[in-house]
Amino acid sequence: MIQLTNKYSIDESAAYIIADKKQIQSIDLSQKERGFAEKMLENKSKLVHINSFHKSSFILLVNTEKDEFTQLEEIRKSGNKIIADIQELNLEKINIVNLSSEKFTYALCEGIMLSKYGFHKYFKDKEEKKSSLKELKIVSNNNDKTKVDLLNALITGVYHARDIVNEPLSFMTAQKLSQEIERIGKETGFRTEVLNKKQIESLKMGGLIAVNRGSTHPPTFNIMQWEPENAINEKPYVFVGKGLVFDTGGINLKPSGYIETMKSDKAGGATVIGLMAAIAKAKLPIKVIGLVPATDNRPGNDAYVPEDIITMFDGTTVEVLNTDAEGRMILADALAYAKKYKPQLVIDLATLTGAAVVAVGENATAIMGNTSKEIEILKQTGFEVWEKLVELPLWDEYKELLKSSVADLKNIGGKYAGAITAGKFLEHFTDYDWIHLDIAGPAFTEKNDSYRGIGGTGVGVRLLFEFLNKKRNN
Ligand code: BES
Ligand code: MN
Ligand code: ZN
Repeated sequence: MIQLTNKYSIDESAAYIIADKKQIQSIDLSQKERGFAEKMLENKSKLVHINSFHKSSFILLVNTEKDEFTQLEEIRKSGNKIIADIQELNLEKINIVNLSSEKFTYALCEGIMLSKYGFHKYFKDKEEKKSSLKELKIVSNNNDKTKVDLLNALITGVYHARDIVNEPLSFMTAQKLSQEIERIGKETGFRTEVLNKKQIESLKMGGLIAVNRGSTHPPTFNIMQWEPENAINEKPYVFVGKGLVFDTGGINLKPSGYIETMKSDKAGGATVIGLMAAIAKAKLPIKVIGLVPATDNRPGNDAYVPEDIITMFDGTTVEVLNTDAEGRMILADALAYAKKYKPQLVIDLATLTGAAVVAVGENATAIMGNTSKEIEILKQTGFEVWEKLVELPLWDEYKELLKSSVADLKNIGGKYAGAITAGKFLEHFTDYDWIHLDIAGPAFTEKNDSYRGIGGTGVGVRLLFEFLNKKRNN
């Protein structure tokens, strides 16, 4: 938790944000330390750590020559470096003293708090792994708590999203995921309704049922609701997340080298859950619904097989030609289900295709949809929070690739444009303003990536929380 304070002692460790080297003068340092800091900042270095033994002082010089968004991102990354030193020295407290612009304070706190995250549950000595940092205080004279509250809510949301992604199937089956959603809902304030296998069957969610058939664990369909009395919107924003708790590929089994990260195939769902948690905790005055269809995809005895024809929730028939294209099968049912809310806008998130990673890389999200206005706003927000979006087209021609000779649609396209044909498939099940985010690249990282950490990144939570906050301020 980030706190606000208006008093602090110069004997406490602190991070100072400055925009001009001259500001070093106003920091409590010895003559020699000051000389050292000046020399360091003279060179390329933008972050200096002065260890005075009784306290640490971090001096962060903002690079004002760069554009604003790059500045903010460099500050978040400095937060990661600061956390590394804090860990090393076992520091428990740090103050943020900003001698420059206020927005830098939040970026630094964000970088520190997101870097502090760790998934330690399964270590025997988990206490040892925990971050030493217990207190992060912003030194400030104005008592505007709102921004700090928003940031704390957001960080809670990202932590939940990461935790969910990082849990393996040995713990997190679809039913366990539902229990986690209920628990997080109670903790943060949103309402949860879980549909069980029977209910899913009586609703005829054919896509979700088909994908689940090879598993011994039942599927769930999770509905989260945040409907505050002071909502500014009549029609809700609906977020749909792929909750594939493990994707073996099914009968089209994934080979090694491809299967090992597939606990992260629930990352879209995890983001929706984390987002709902952040929204509820921040008490945003916006009506929001979260939908997460959940199952694992397995080649068990009764698994669906290529050439099966599946009747989906909305009656569309789908010829399955690859059981590994399962995400679109469960999302299609959720997207069709979303129609009943008469939504303002639906945004789905999914680790949907390897093709999206090939197209835009591991650090960017592929964005597609039918509302260019909202896509533009989201792309802009992507730069601000540094969760960047690359737009792919949904031209009619691509729909041709999904034509089947025996059913309304095939579940795979051709050899090329795999991220787009997946998007076209989903589009078929929408009749409202809609955006699709393929997060297959950035959802999970196998090597430490600054404040994004290792494992689940929670990508999308910061993006969409900021997006909604813009709606509120409009
Ligand atoms: N979950 C995968 C996509 C994925 C791949 C996510 C790599 C993260 C990293 C998805 O279910 C899948 O298997 N997609 C197939 C689709 C194909 C069969 C049309 C793919 O991308 O190969
Ligand atoms: Mn798959
Ligand atoms: Zn998948």
